[in-house]
Amino acid sequence: MSKLTHLPEWQDLNLHFNEIRDRHLRSLFKDDPQRGDKFNLQVEDLYLDYSKNRITQQTLDLLFELAKAVSLPAKIQAMFEGEKINISENRPVLHVALRNLSDRPILVDGKNIMNEIKKVRSKMRQFAGKVHRGQVTGYSGKTIRNVVNIGIGGSDLGPVMAYEALKAYSNRDLTVRFISNIDSTHFVESTRDLNPEETLFIVASKTFTTQETMTNAQTAKKWIVNHYQIQDTRSKIHESKIMNHESDPVAKHFVALSTNIEKVKEFGIDPENMFEFWDFVGGRYSLCSAIGLSLMIAIGPDHFDQMLEGFCAIDEHFRTASLEKNLPVLMAVIEIWYNNFFEFQTQAILPYEQYLHRFPAYLQQAEMESNGKSVTGAGVRVDYQTGPIIWGEPGTNGQHAFYQLLHQGTKIVPADFIGFIEPINKVSDHHLKLMANLFAQTEALAFGKDDEKPYKTFLGNRPTNTILLPKLTPKTLGELIALYEHKIFVQGAIWDIDSFDQWGVELGKVLALKILSELKDAKSKLDHDSSTNTLIGKFKSLK
Ligand code: F6P
Repeated sequence: MSKLTHLPEWQDLNLHFNEIRDRHLRSLFKDDPQRGDKFNLQVEDLYLDYSKNRITQQTLDLLFELAKAVSLPAKIQAMFEGEKINISENRPVLHVALRNLSDRPILVDGKNIMNEIKKVRSKMRQFAGKVHRGQVTGYSGKTIRNVVNIGIGGSDLGPVMAYEALKAYSNRDLTVRFISNIDSTHFVESTRDLNPEETLFIVASKTFTTQETMTNAQTAKKWIVNHYQIQDTRSKIHESKIMNHESDPVAKHFVALSTNIEKVKEFGIDPENMFEFWDFVGGRYSLCSAIGLSLMIAIGPDHFDQMLEGFCAIDEHFRTASLEKNLPVLMAVIEIWYNNFFEFQTQAILPYEQYLHRFPAYLQQAEMESNGKSVTGAGVRVDYQTGPIIWGEPGTNGQHAFYQLLHQGTKIVPADFIGFIEPINKVSDHHLKLMANLFAQTEALAFGKDDEKPYKTFLGNRPTNTILLPKLTPKTLGELIALYEHKIFVQGAIWDIDSFDQWGVELGKVLALKILSELKDAKSKLDHDSSTNTLIGKFKSLK
């Protein structure tokens, strides 16, 4: 048994759970008709209605006691002060430094890292601004109009999600694409209609060793170099140039975002064309670092700054607000209530905003890679549930797909509904209909409907949060992402796990390398289990 479940605060929650586990939201609202007016919190642009949760004030009080018992305030402070809270990798966790717009210094090994961060941001601003305005040319002198980010996981999901979210703020003369999958289809389909002479590749990889990214980057390099070689053979103009490293097309068509300067050089990208970030920024928390370059190019540096302002506002709130009035803490403890006491397995993210269609996928990595752990920081196996399964789709599409299960299935899925007061595209009454659906869904989920026919009965008592924001802007997007990032932090802190490593992805990577060499070697001897051996054998015999 590990310590958490032995805490008296945990035991108190257990007792309380037994008392209220069967309380229906109907009765909670009946007993306190003003509940909807009370159980809400406005922080910056974020308004959270948490009244449709299966909680009472006592539940919250006990959850906050638990947060105090695990020294949550000290843990928050430790992150902001650069302590090495990523235990297994012995690193500080300082994505918050990337959007620290105050004069507050942040020290790592006695050095104020804010200077370096500002230096890279200003280099990004300069370069991104030029590409954004169409002032950068490729090797042949043609203007760069296509920007292709090559990266995976945190080096893809953040930029692609935010680019999609903020498309309305982007320069529509630019074509911005994201290649992540090692499946060649992703490369081929993303480049088939692009002119290489107008294309800039951004190779985004913290380590610069990730198999998918390096394979796609090598393919991109060939795509560019082959194009110019064919051109040169045809025109005979640049024959000497192409062999000459100084006027290498790679220099004009590639930039790198990485922490690994040696590997960047090895790939053939001049360090001048590299935008640096640091080990204290985790991949899934790296959107505000150099990893955001493709986004900055698309929306322009000023909009990017506005996004940082949104992040910064919620960082400051998280750092300074009391636990009881702290939005990320509140959302985190409510989810812990469901995850650890009700033992609900999954959590749905349902944005009623088409531009946020990649937001659930982004949060899937953020939450599941961070909190999908089963040992504590001290290496003890936990005896309680950690991170839930995160999934979702934008409304109203999901309503016509999986909401049936949310309303009448045997599983209870707590859900976050995210909506905006004002739409980006005002077209007749679309937005009113969209929001009417959002409100209707949370009402139906909470209160259900009696009917004499069982199949028409809705039991209700399905908990939801509703997050309302004024409008989707760079700033509000920053606030929303920071809210979830810190919610994840709080949960990891309470579960006493390292939310900032990701060892769980390593085993598959190592095995894939071994199998790759076996696939390439016709005579390789297979020493896997009988299932894997047979599968590999079948593939090799049929390909
Ligand atoms: O394999 C998981 C992971 O390490 C993620 O944590 C990370 O975001 C992704 O791979 C990409 O890593 P990199 O930026 O080093 O290419």
